Amino acid sequence: MIRVFPDAEALSRAAAALFARAAQRAARRAGRFVVALAGGQTPRRAYEWLAHLECQGTVPWEAVHVFWGDERCVPFEDPRSNARMAHEAMLQHVPIPPHQIHPIRCEGDPEAAADRYEAVLRAFFREAPPQFDLILLGLGEDGHTASLFPFHPAVTEQRRWVAAVPEADPPRVTLTLPILNQAHRVVFLVAGARKAEILRTVWEGPFDPLRWPAQGVRPGPGRILWMVDAEAAAGLSRIR
Ligand code: 6PG
Repeated sequence: MIRVFPDAEALSRAAAALFARAAQRAARRAGRFVVALAGGQTPRRAYEWLAHLECQGTVPWEAVHVFWGDERCVPFEDPRSNARMAHEAMLQHVPIPPHQIHPIRCEGDPEAAADRYEAVLRAFFREAPPQFDLILLGLGEDGHTASLFPFHPAVTEQRRWVAAVPEADPPRVTLTLPILNQAHRVVFLVAGARKAEILRTVWEGPFDPLRWPAQGVRPGPGRILWMVDAEAAAGLSRIR
């Protein structure tokens, strides 16, 4: 399922509204909303909208538990930190209980960081398969998502919930496809002309998730939504 928006601002506002609705539903249903945030720059504006006055009161922040789909192994103060971006854009502006924010701490060894984050997830989900209510993802120009990069062993990891990507610069930690595909709902946010070619490849090219890891995100019918702007969608021959 794909929805095309006129521009990145419209996409961001719609993504914020989707987040708020999903949070309300989950809070009503289960008393909590468990979300994994995407990194990179595309989601920033959606996070800013969620912290905006207009959205105040629409998100049951007291029931929200925030995790990340991936992180760069840099200090929080580093501008490349996904946790820093989410705090600046949203988390420091909303009344979410601090103990319900679960950053991936990986300034040191990414393998140890991956093990630690997996322990955090296992403790939170109490060993049941971790089903996030919502996972937000971006799309890299090489077809990566989270920090699942083309031809990296983490892409084919089937046992671990969290994997290390020590080869990246900076090194990274990422949720694995089995966890992403366990989610109740996955939403990709893709904007900008530079994403047009890879979006067309991912959508209309051959199925090769090792080469284009975003193709490996297949949580099942009705559980994945691609929210893209017109520039990114320009290469698509058909919208389905
Ligand atoms: C990261 C993200 C990564 C990102 C894509 C798109 O930590 O970099 O998890 O998967 O979503 O690279 O990034 P942009 O939104 O900046 O284009």
